[in-house]
Amino acid sequence: MIRACDVADLPDGEAIRILAHVPIAVFHVDGAYYAVDDTCTHQDASLADGWVEGCTVECPLHAASFDLRTGVPLCLPAKTAVRTYPVVVSGGVIYVDTGVSEGVA
Ligand code: FES
Repeated sequence: MIRACDVADLPDGEAIRILAHVPIAVFHVDGAYYAVDDTCTHQDASLADGWVEGCTVECPLHAASFDLRTGVPLCLPAKTAVRTYPVVVSGGVIYVDTGVSEGVA
């Protein structure tokens, strides 16, 4: 697990980028938290800089959108899913389970 941030530091509708083995974007949507690879699978754009609508994020570069729950692209030009990661909230802190040993929460 890797510490993302305090719950208070990620308001609803916002996202942050954290550095793990790869950059990961963490989103807050209506009280739920989602983590996906930050880099769009189409080209090199940061999804944390995209637009969140419901459980989707729209890439800021060419407007592909991804389902934050599954990582699946919902429209072109992206054709490949972004990886998703489990998110755990404990003690007012948001953690991302990267599946990689990067420190213990
Ligand atoms: S870089 Fe994301 S849609 Fe092109």
